[in-house]
Amino acid sequence: MIPTWVQLAYLAAAVCFILALKGLSSPRTARRGNQLGAAAAVGATVVVFFEADLDHLWLIIAAIAVGAVLGVVGAQRVQMTQMPQLVALFNGVGGGAAALVALIELEELTPFADVVPTFTFVATVFTIFVGAVSFAGSMITFAKLQELITTRPVIFPGLPVAFGGAFVAAIAIAVVAVVSPQLWPGVLLAVLGLVVGALLVLPVGGADVPIVISLLNAFTGLTVAAGGYVLDNTLLLVAGTLVGAAGTLLTKLMASAMGRSLVNILFGALRGGSTLGAGEASDRPVRSAGPQDVAIMLAYAHKVIIVPGYGLAVAQAQHSLRELVEVLDERGIEVDYAIHPVAGRMPGHMNVLLAEAQVPYEKLVEMDGINSDFKHADVVLVVGANDVVNPAAKTTPGAPIYGMPILNAGDAQQVIFMKRSMRPGFAGIENELLFDPKTTLLFGDAKDTMGKLLSAVKAL
Ligand code: TAP
Repeated sequence: MIPTWVQLAYLAAAVCFILALKGLSSPRTARRGNQLGAAAAVGATVVVFFEADLDHLWLIIAAIAVGAVLGVVGAQRVQMTQMPQLVALFNGVGGGAAALVALIELEELTPFADVVPTFTFVATVFTIFVGAVSFAGSMITFAKLQELITTRPVIFPGLPVAFGGAFVAAIAIAVVAVVSPQLWPGVLLAVLGLVVGALLVLPVGGADVPIVISLLNAFTGLTVAAGGYVLDNTLLLVAGTLVGAAGTLLTKLMASAMGRSLVNILFGALRGGSTLGAGEASDRPVRSAGPQDVAIMLAYAHKVIIVPGYGLAVAQAQHSLRELVEVLDERGIEVDYAIHPVAGRMPGHMNVLLAEAQVPYEKLVEMDGINSDFKHADVVLVVGANDVVNPAAKTTPGAPIYGMPILNAGDAQQVIFMKRSMRPGFAGIENELLFDPKTTLLFGDAKDTMGKLLSAVKAL
């Protein structure tokens, strides 16, 4: 029987997790939400030390210490643009840990197979399999995003057969493990889970990998929830369910923001549709200008819309951009930031980046709120973005981004692109807007050119 104070502590932690999720839904409260969730997780962990009669206490403390040091150092060192791979790594170890715990439980429950309810074994084998899928899948996504392996879809003849075969074999072994609980089918199931996880993610192109991370995150949530059932721990059950639900919703939202179905993202490459084409730089002529000319275009506009993208994050030009907008504000120019839901490489990337640079939240306008304003804008300044303004999403069936809603930057009087070269964006396809007569390119690393542009506007 779990003591009442422990149940109350778990209830408090569960409430904190829900409040934390609520906090994460707005940039204004996200930091507090994150801290609340972390504090509740620490509190719940401490409770276990007082509640349970733990063997190997020092081993557990040592493992926690190693994990804490690695986690803190890793999270502090990581660049904002590398955040998706960090999430993949954390998610993978979560799934892997749940699978290992379930394997140990399977062995411990085996002698009592006659009295333990069958559903407990079902939950245990589910945890082993899905946890292993999540671990292997997350490690492959990490390797892709870190460019340790190719970011292109990896496909080979027989992949669908191997995937299907491993999946069917896993179901058969899972049945064996439930009917006649023993360690060996559990271990075999874990190995099959690793194979299925790897084969699931290998054919996904780099541009779609962040969505797969979110999907694997949902898998880990389900694994942890099932683990909570096995271990008779309500808090794990609640926390896992929250992660599973949040991951599922996020996956759906990201997929629809890209105008793609999940089936197309996971299996598109197998059907021959490209999910990422590392395109070549175009040699078609474009109009380019220097910072002084662009400064004049901006300084004499009435309404300017900024479209931030991945390149802004890479260049770390957000602080100079914020300063530029302040200078334009002082000149009485109306300036807003247009935020596309998948600008950058992870959900909320631009919100986090601009919040870090102290850009007021009310200046950030979501795509649906700003798309009808572009036609009233004198100038659109596209900083390190490409796919999110590419009209091919509307005009070119068959393009990897076809169907993705885009920002209507092309509706403005003039469009300025700040980028380094004529290389395409992440989807690897040419952007017709770059060649439009109303478009001007300001070439260079965004941090460098933004600094020059700022000085030029100030000098006017
Ligand atoms: P992209 O289409 O990738 O374009 C980024 C642009 O930034 C490129 O044109 C690049 O051109 C430029 N750039 C790179 N480094 C730069 C630097 N240091 N200075 C100046 N410019 C630089 O980015 P986007 O428009 O933000 O679109 C996001 C893409 O990522 C979409 O395809 C989206 O589907 C995908 N994606 C997003 C997410 C989420 S949730 N955010 C998840 C998965 C996939 P140069 O190389 O010529 O400089």
